[in-house]
Amino acid sequence: MKALILVGGYGTRLRPLTLSYPKPLVEFCNKPMILHQIEALVEVGVKHVILAVSYQKDMFDILIEKQLKEVEDKLNIKISLSIENEPMGTAGPIALARDLLLQDTTDDDTFFVLNSDIICDFPFKKMIEFHKTHGKEGTIVVTKVTEPAKYGVVVFDSMGKIESFIEKPKVYVSNKINAGMYIFKMSIIDKIPLRPTSIEKDTFPLIVQEENLYALELKGYWMDVGQPEDFLVGIDLYLNSLKNKNNLAVPNFNNDIKIIGNVLIDSTAKIGDHCQIGPNVTIGSNVTIKNGVCLKNCAILSDTTIECHTWIDKCIIGWNCFVGKWVRMENTCVLGQDVSVKDELYINGAKVLPHKSLTSSITEPKIIM
Ligand code: GDD
Ligand code: MG
Repeated sequence: MKALILVGGYGTRLRPLTLSYPKPLVEFCNKPMILHQIEALVEVGVKHVILAVSYQKDMFDILIEKQLKEVEDKLNIKISLSIENEPMGTAGPIALARDLLLQDTTDDDTFFVLNSDIICDFPFKKMIEFHKTHGKEGTIVVTKVTEPAKYGVVVFDSMGKIESFIEKPKVYVSNKINAGMYIFKMSIIDKIPLRPTSIEKDTFPLIVQEENLYALELKGYWMDVGQPEDFLVGIDLYLNSLKNKNNLAVPNFNNDIKIIGNVLIDSTAKIGDHCQIGPNVTIGSNVTIKNGVCLKNCAILSDTTIECHTWIDKCIIGWNCFVGKWVRMENTCVLGQDVSVKDELYINGAKVLPHKSLTSSITEPKIIM
C-alpha cells in the first residue's frame, strides 16, 4: 500500500522554527514529525511513501540524500518526492502525484493521505479494516476537541456516513473534527483537478454529496502540533502515551540530577549536576545542560547549550542556541535556530528569529526580528 504525506505549507504558525526547516522536519519528541508517521505506516504494510513537497524543496533534497535514504534502507521502503512548482493546496498534490500513486498497483486499490503535523496513536490498521467494511470511496479519522473552530468539523450518522464537512466554521456545528488522516480509493484521483485545490473545501464536500465519505472515530490522544502551544501540549500527550505503553525509558545518570514526571533525553545530551528536568521535557542530540538548570514543559532541540542555573518553563528552544546563566524564560517563548541569550535576562513569551542575540530582557510577549 502507498501513502502520500502532505509536507508543503509554509508552517507560519510554527515560526521561527519553520524559517530554518520545513514543519514536517522539525523534531517533535526528538524525531522529525514525519518520521513518527512513516514508522507507523510501515507497521501496517505501507511500502511506498510519497512526500508532497512545495515549500523549502531544497531541504527535502538534502534530506532524501542523507536521513531519508537511511530511513528507506532501515524500514525497507521507498520514499519519493512529488514536487510542486506552486503550492497545490491539500488536494492538488494527489492529482500531481497521480503517476506515482498508480505505479505498480497490484492487489490494492487504496492509499493513505496524511497531514504531516499531527500526532496520536496512529489508527492505520483500524482505518484499513473500517474502509473495507463500508466499501465507499473515502475514510477520514475524526476526533473530539474543545476548540473545533480551528479545524475541519465533521457531522456523521451512527454508521459513520458523513453528512457535512465544514472547514474552520465560524459558528458551532459539532466538536468532532477532521484529524488529518485519510484512506481513499484510487478513483478519487479523477475527481481532483490538477491545480491548487483544497481537500477540505473542494473535494470533501463533493464526495460527501455522493455519500462516499465515512468517518472513523479515534480513540485516545490527538494533537495538531503545528503551533507552539499545541506542540508543547503534544509533548505531554505523547510522552504519557509512551509511558503507558512502557516505552519511555527512565534516563540513568551517574551524577546528581532530579527527574520529574515524563522526560525524553537523547543519549548524546550532557546534563550537569543538580539539574531538575521535567515534567514533559524533551532534550535533543548533542544538547549541553550545565549545572543547576531547571527545565519544565519544554523542548530543547539539538546542539543547544543551556548555561548554569537557568530556569525554563513552557518554551521551545531551537537548534544550536546558546542560553546564558541565570536566565528565566517562560510563557511559550520560541527561539529560532542559532539564537543567543545573555546571562541573567528575563524572557517572557518572545518569538525570536534565527541568528538573533538577546542582550536585554523581554518582559511582554513579542516577536524579535
Ligand atoms: N504539498 C502541500 N502543498 N502540502 C500542503 C500545502 C500545499 O500547498 N498546504 C498545506 N499543506 C500541508 C501542511 O504541511 C499540512 O501537513 C497539511 O497540508 C494541512 O495543512 P495545515 O496548514 O496544517 O492545515 P490546518 O492545520 O489549518 O488544518 C488541517 O488540519 C486539521 C487537523 O490538524 C485541515 O485538514 C483540517 O480540516 C484539520 O482538522
Ligand atoms: Mg495543521
